[in-house]
Amino acid sequence: MTKLGVNIDHVATLRQARYRGLQSGEPDPVEAALICETAGAHGITAHLREDRRHILDRDVRMLRERITTRLNLEMANTPEIVAIALDLKPEIICLVPERRQELTTEGGLDVRGSLSDIATTCGLMSEADIEVSLFIDPVPAQIEAAAESGCGFIEFHTGSFAEHFSDADQREAELTRLAEGFTLARQAGLTVNAGHGLNYENVAVLLNRIPDLHELNIGHSIISRAITSGLARAVEDMLALIRSA
Ligand code: PXP
Repeated sequence: MTKLGVNIDHVATLRQARYRGLQSGEPDPVEAALICETAGAHGITAHLREDRRHILDRDVRMLRERITTRLNLEMANTPEIVAIALDLKPEIICLVPERRQELTTEGGLDVRGSLSDIATTCGLMSEADIEVSLFIDPVPAQIEAAAESGCGFIEFHTGSFAEHFSDADQREAELTRLAEGFTLARQAGLTVNAGHGLNYENVAVLLNRIPDLHELNIGHSIISRAITSGLARAVEDMLALIRSA
């Protein structure tokens, strides 16, 4: 069965909207991660961005101490964050492109264009027993470069598939691109994950086409559903306190 990694960045985004500058506040992404694990998630993904806009250093340290599944640290390939990863020792890192103005990760990594820097980081991580995944678009040149880099995993950027999901022709074209990329990557010996924009509507369509994806990393739709499915309980709990005061 394909594994599920839950990306908890959005929990931290909500916390930072109220408690920026403080070291704690609600909702706590670490508590959220523990709930995800109890519910059966196979891993927890967190992106420690250079600007620390959501996940903080404290969060990744506490995640490392407290979670019992796998920690997937999403990160830019910069000296500061590489040093943090080597010290933290997540089970796996996922290198992503990072642009300061973007709302979320837009587009995959240009592995071909920065192969030597990526290969250096793969070597450092391998010495520290940390696996490496590269977040790429399902494009042959990038898949081939990933296979040369020394990484063991790639994660296909499914943003374009998600974006074009409602148009049958474009959805089919994106699925074909992903399926052909999957075959090429497996032939090159890579393990293939996928993520970005996956939700309750599109996930089964993707898996029916590519059942052997190793892991899906999903954040926004799961955290969004948690708000709607948990809202009634939250209101009831508050009403109970008001009534009994
Ligand atoms: N995988 C990677 C590499 C990402 O950057 C993101 C977004 O942070 C995700 C998966 C999850 O995307 P979404 O929040 O759209 O589910």
